[in-house]
Amino acid sequence: MSKLAGKVAVVTGASKGIGAAIARALAAEGAKVVVNYASSKAGADAVVETITAAGGKAIAVQGDVSKAEQAQGLIDAAIKEFGRLDVLVNNSGVYEFGAIDEITEEHYHRQFNVNVLGLLLTTQAAVKHIGEGGSIINISSVVTSMAPPATAVYAGTKGAVDAINSVLANELGPRKIRVNAILPGIIETEGTHSIGVIGSDLEHTTVAQTPLGRIGQPDDIARIAVFLASDDAGWLTGERLTAAGGFR
Ligand SMILES: NC(=O)c1ccc[n+]([C@@H]2O[C@H](COP(=O)([O-])OP(=O)(O)OC[C@H]3O[C@@H](n4cnc5c(N)ncnc54)[C@H](OP(=O)(O)O)[C@@H]3O)[C@@H](O)[C@H]2O)c1
Repeated sequence: MSKLAGKVAVVTGASKGIGAAIARALAAEGAKVVVNYASSKAGADAVVETITAAGGKAIAVQGDVSKAEQAQGLIDAAIKEFGRLDVLVNNSGVYEFGAIDEITEEHYHRQFNVNVLGLLLTTQAAVKHIGEGGSIINISSVVTSMAPPATAVYAGTKGAVDAINSVLANELGPRKIRVNAILPGIIETEGTHSIGVIGSDLEHTTVAQTPLGRIGQPDDIARIAVFLASDDAGWLTGERLTAAGGFR
């Protein structure tokens, strides 16, 4: 029996990287999936195609999660297409590095708007529909404990995500909605390729300090998301699962 049969999931930022892998993995366990994207329609359509070719159900929905109307529109589209909502994965995120003297208002707002405000707005829209047994999964990062130089703003967003995760677990627990965070280490994605993390000294020093001896792949995180979305994790809420091959 598929672990997520009958459930409906929204995955934000699922046109590529970690979000795309999570969308595919949730669908493989029987969930109907809404694949959100901001600008990469082709990427989101490809994820939907992969899911439907394997016999699953998915739709792609454009929406900038940092805009209240669009976050609401994303959730409305899920309800319109599939009639219910059980799982929300707040994965959309942007990361830009910059030392303290390089921080600008734009650098700050770009990251806080998507990583923090977007998560709040999407969750606000989603909890109007998620009922008992629902699961919210927030994608945070080990960056908060790793604390590499020149990541003050990005790490600040993920510290906020961790705090929000704890608060919402308490707030939504009485409604039997679970809220958990996954804190990935470095994962090979389109995003980490484009900002030059892959192949960098940061990657090499991280691998050297990682007991399992490699960086992560999106599927490493997707399997954990399936677990947290499923009833197997029914006694977990407010948790922050570090997923980094043993790297701390
Ligand atoms: N990769 C890592 O090493 C790593 C480690 C720890 C945590 N994380 C976290 O994991 C998440 C995914 O990272 P990734 O590496 O997979 O990123 P990625 O490859 O850059 O993909 C980012 C995704 O977020 C979407 N997105 C960006 N802005 C958005 C907005 N305003 N509204 C809706 N969607 C938006 C993008 O959509 P479009 O393509 O349509 O723009 C894309 O689907 C992020 O929260 C990141 O902070 C990543």
